[in-house]
Amino acid sequence: MNDRTNEGTTVAPKDHSPRTVHDIVGVGFGPSNLGMAIALAERGHEGRALDGVFLERQESFGWHRGMLIDDATMQVSFLKDLVTTRNPASDFSFLSFLHHVGRLHDFINHKTLFPLRQEFHDYLSWCADRVDDQVRYGHEVTEVRPVRSGGRVTELDVLARDRAGRDVVLRTRNVVFGPGLRPRMPEGIGQSDRIWHNEYLLTRLAELPADADPRSFAVVGAGQSAAEVADHLHRRFPRAEVHAILSRYGYSPSDDSPFANRIFDPEAVDAFHTAPEDVKKQLMGYHRNTNYSVVDPALIEELYRRHYAEKVHGDQRLYLHNTSRVADLADGAHGVSVAVEDLVTGKQTPVTADYAVFATGYHPAAPLPLLGDLAEQVVTTPDGLPVVERDYRVVTHASLTCGLYLQGGTEHTHGVSSSLLSNIATRVAQILDAIETPGNA
Ligand code: FDA
Ligand code: NAP
Repeated sequence: MNDRTNEGTTVAPKDHSPRTVHDIVGVGFGPSNLGMAIALAERGHEGRALDGVFLERQESFGWHRGMLIDDATMQVSFLKDLVTTRNPASDFSFLSFLHHVGRLHDFINHKTLFPLRQEFHDYLSWCADRVDDQVRYGHEVTEVRPVRSGGRVTELDVLARDRAGRDVVLRTRNVVFGPGLRPRMPEGIGQSDRIWHNEYLLTRLAELPADADPRSFAVVGAGQSAAEVADHLHRRFPRAEVHAILSRYGYSPSDDSPFANRIFDPEAVDAFHTAPEDVKKQLMGYHRNTNYSVVDPALIEELYRRHYAEKVHGDQRLYLHNTSRVADLADGAHGVSVAVEDLVTGKQTPVTADYAVFATGYHPAAPLPLLGDLAEQVVTTPDGLPVVERDYRVVTHASLTCGLYLQGGTEHTHGVSSSLLSNIATRVAQILDAIETPGNA
């Protein structure tokens, strides 16, 4: 059996009970829980001291590193950083970061709201370094267990495995889940050395031998990830064909217009949360194209420009298999054979690729499996999803008096901004206010 550590100290096997009870233990340390750690630090300076410990399975801070394509830009204004909409005077803002690194004037002259993703990653890492007393990297949360007292669950034990393979237990009154997104592959297709989800694009490319000279890629999907992957592979491997396979007629633009953008505002979350179920579905349907299966218009223009120029020059490398699906896929030692079926004609075209990249989206990491027996205490919708209050507290049976809060995985209750950066700054304050409210644990 593994040693069990208590606050980082190995304890005797019988003494499993941690001595410290934290106010908050966070699962994951992406932007959501990083935003919470900052809010905790700022409240601490005001004398409103709640303590928080965040457990992150990565060895250091990293935000979708496999997609940090050199010239990819943010899909949200930098003003929706981790603090500004909550506290415009915070020194954890993106502008404070620019000031710190001596690039504020250069950025202003750039006249953009949309920094490079790489630059935003640098900003997030700078924030993470400044609150690293609250984080334990290399800790994967494996389970949340109830601590019972007089027939009630009053505290929770969060179990994690550290980088040495030891079990660690932290006791807390509240768990804030921020485990983010998981890559989604089409049913029946697994990842391999030659078949990747875009989440691992740059990691996989970095692992290729130095003399690798791929001649063909297949890229499945029509969202922002798919377009960025097709663009990147086409530019990076000037001798390779790129076969984009999409069920749409063409890439569709993301709706970034001002009225539609209000769907990401905190007020829109208020409205969505109180809306009847059929209206919630209607709103998601109307505004799905602000986020899902859509591409930044400038990138669509650029891909089309290149596609057309190749036709003019008679040297086509970028192929668009539109209204098409992957009908069959064979993963071999020398390549991936893809049968691309035209949805209109039913005709199949064979494509042989060195690598196939599935940019087929993500789904939220579900917290319920981590809860084990505790999941029985959670009130769920007919679809098996947790019912969540406006303040992001999971609705539980009365015998559970401690708090379970969700950052992400709340699209069914809080709308389209749930998985995005847009509301992190305000969301963390709403959660902390709820935790500070007398009567809440
Ligand atoms: P995120 O997924 O970032 O972090 C979750 C963390 O939890 C990870 O570090 C993970 O390792 C950790 N974790 C998971 N399970 C764990 C466990 N059991 N134990 C310990 N740690 C665990 N949105 C937006 O608004 N604007 C944008 O520009 C973009 N751009 C963008 C690019 C790409 C390529 C993707 C895939 C997504 C975006 N997004 C986005 C959406 C994206 O969801 C958002 O930017 C944040 O990553 C959300 O932050 P979270 O902290 O909620 O999740
Ligand atoms: P997405 O928007 O969900 O798009 C997934 C695509 O895969 C869609 O085109 C979908 O088809 C297709 N698809 C899904 N299942 C499929 C299957 N079984 N077979 C074939 N195709 C399938 O995912 P995403 O592009 O990864 O974007 C996810 C989030 O990340 C968004 O919020 C996006 O803004 C963000 N992102 C941001 C950046 C950036 O900041 N620069 C970069 C990448 C991603 P349909 O077209 O039929 O729906």
